[in-house]
Amino acid sequence: LNPRSNILRAYSPSLARRLMQFLAGRFEEHLEQSQAAAGKVLPWRTPQENIAEAAKFMGHGTENPCSSNDAVVDRFRNLVDLILSRSINLHHLHYTGHQVAPPPPLAAVFDAVSSLTNQGAAIYEMGPWSTAVEAALIAELGKTFGLPAGGFTGFATHGGSLANLTALLTARNIRFPSGWSKGIASLDKTPVLLVHADSHYCISRAAGILGLGTEQVLRLDIDAERRIDVPRLAAKLDELQREGVPVLAVVACACTTPTGAFDRLNQIADVCQPRGVWLHVDAAHGGAAAFSPRYRPLLAGIERADSFICDAHKMMFAPALCAFVFHRHRDQRFATFAQEAPYLYDPSTPGTADFDGGLLTLECTKRAMTYTIWGLWSLVGPQIFADMVEQTFDLGRAFGAMLKTAPDFELLHEPECNIVVFRHLPKRANGWSPAQVGEFNREIRRRIIESGSFYLVQTTLDGAGALRAVLMNPLTTVEELKALMEEIRRVGAAVSSKAGTL
Ligand SMILES: Cc1ncc(COP(=O)(O)O)c(C=O)c1O
Repeated sequence: LNPRSNILRAYSPSLARRLMQFLAGRFEEHLEQSQAAAGKVLPWRTPQENIAEAAKFMGHGTENPCSSNDAVVDRFRNLVDLILSRSINLHHLHYTGHQVAPPPPLAAVFDAVSSLTNQGAAIYEMGPWSTAVEAALIAELGKTFGLPAGGFTGFATHGGSLANLTALLTARNIRFPSGWSKGIASLDKTPVLLVHADSHYCISRAAGILGLGTEQVLRLDIDAERRIDVPRLAAKLDELQREGVPVLAVVACACTTPTGAFDRLNQIADVCQPRGVWLHVDAAHGGAAAFSPRYRPLLAGIERADSFICDAHKMMFAPALCAFVFHRHRDQRFATFAQEAPYLYDPSTPGTADFDGGLLTLECTKRAMTYTIWGLWSLVGPQIFADMVEQTFDLGRAFGAMLKTAPDFELLHEPECNIVVFRHLPKRANGWSPAQVGEFNREIRRRIIESGSFYLVQTTLDGAGALRAVLMNPLTTVEELKALMEEIRRVGAAVSSKAGTL
């Protein structure tokens, strides 16, 4: 093929149609199988095996570039089958793993539109429709969170880690304006960041990136429910004030990653507001509870935070990555990045600066990531978000109840949402040390995930290993969870038959 015909093939409308037609049928089969819990959740193979196989298709092995359109279609089928068969299957009913959503196909299909149209968002004219979609969504979501119409601001960004970093950068620049131009080192005293002891690691990373230093992160005491202990927070803030130590922000969680604990945000706001302390809420996981009349009390007070974030790719079930940052005060929207980029921002259209997304985000080029959520909302209405939150949170609580009544399981916290941490503790484990019990549970999980029968997570709670289920699939039911408990018992019996090593 000469270069031009090679390029024409890559852009061929009719070839594109053939690929999409195949994809439509293959998706239907894949979703049907997943919803029947057929096949493995995780096809366990080592990284080296997978890398070697992936490299083969790039010309390092027997495969050569396709010579005809028919060959392209055939190869495309193989590649798609390979991707589906080698990936962890989030749509499988037995996926009870990390906080990554199985996107509803009604949302995911819009990703193809995002990819093909490839709208930028640094400036309005590079993405007029994606900017409009994002702005319309921010307005509706803000209302859903209880923010006063017109008073707040927000934007979409690539994931919760970036969202938290950006919000904390705004806090830093507002609290310590010279931090942006002269650096944190120019301040008399380095500020501290007060965080929930179970906050996600991206928060202390943010402290490192912001020039604070991770040692300036103070982990707040938590209560028996693993929520910030509010009276001790108040005492800590007063102590810091007496010592003249500046505070960048208090970071609360809605909810925490390890156990899904929701901080009491109204009480925390009552402590922060009169002391003039910036309150940031990491609602990456639990923010979507705002859609549910039954679960939104968990977020009561979030509208009083100076900033908060929510990951749409968690409990709004968007494909990754899609996260939102909200600031309570609209006039703070340009405080995060005070930079000039004359080739981007055109003074001949001053009225559009508010819609030049690059002024608000770390990204310059930004994917049209909100089409999925906007598409789903526009097709079936916002009730779908309430339904998915309620289904999965209800399931988490039901699973907690099942574990509590089972004599051979230990529930490690009262689940508030769809995150459940527990241990298998059969009779024969009586007398084992906490470390042995933890090791036993980790071994059970390893065997289960490598077999592909279920997928769940391990964690460490109170110093010992534990199992952690995050019920991310809104089609999973208690029947699958009963089967999971049976599988843990079955594998546990095999592990402890070799318990001499534990
Ligand atoms: C509470 C919380 N914050 C932040 C993050 C990081 O979000 P992302 O993976 O979108 O960067 C997570 C991820 O699990 C989380 O649970």
